[in-house]
Amino acid sequence: MTPDSNTIYPIFDKMMSRQDKETLLGQRGIMIWMTGLSGSGKSTVALGVERELHKRGILCRILDGDNIRSGINANLGFSEEDRRENIRRIAEIGKLFVQTGIVTIACFVSPTNEIRQMARDIIGADDFREVYIATPLDECERRDVKGLYARARRGEVKDFTGISAPFEAPVAPDLSLDTSQMTLKEEVEAVVELCLQK
Ligand code: ADX
Repeated sequence: MTPDSNTIYPIFDKMMSRQDKETLLGQRGIMIWMTGLSGSGKSTVALGVERELHKRGILCRILDGDNIRSGINANLGFSEEDRRENIRRIAEIGKLFVQTGIVTIACFVSPTNEIRQMARDIIGADDFREVYIATPLDECERRDVKGLYARARRGEVKDFTGISAPFEAPVAPDLSLDTSQMTLKEEVEAVVELCLQK
């Protein structure tokens, strides 16, 4: 049962501020929100960005669909409602990292404009950058890194994004990267630059 809100007493205002944390770390927190089909390359790009930022002395945290879904969100599936709850929780967790001054990279299919807008609203537009990993469906399916496209085509995985569930491309992403047209190095450089703009 949800508790009555007048029985909850948040202490956010008593904790040390985001500014204190950012000064301690010597960096600014930001959320790099990667969206794209399964197998589009979100995690691969994120891992490259993390390594590059780490080398430059910047503290970074990756939040990834398959990781989060094997832990905190293990009770969620792929219905529209569960995907919304998945992203809501991730956005709330991501906000904690961002407000601790950490460069946070979220890698989630997050298939609709509405779902991504919810994440943006929770985190705050100022701290949110949208990166569309725009690898075309046929290329993701050709790679089929996890074998899920083949299984989805055989009808073994239901509500599979791009096959039996929708994916809406972002309307105005801060960055759009098609991994079938660029090298990983170029992609990583583009995202690192976006991180450093703040
Ligand atoms: S989201 O739609 O709720 O944002 P999320 O990014 O957490 O999805 O998880 C996607 C990952 O779960 C995929 O990369 C894939 O490995 C796996 N997966 C399993 N079933 C599905 C499905 N029906 N649709 C999409 N991804 C799925």
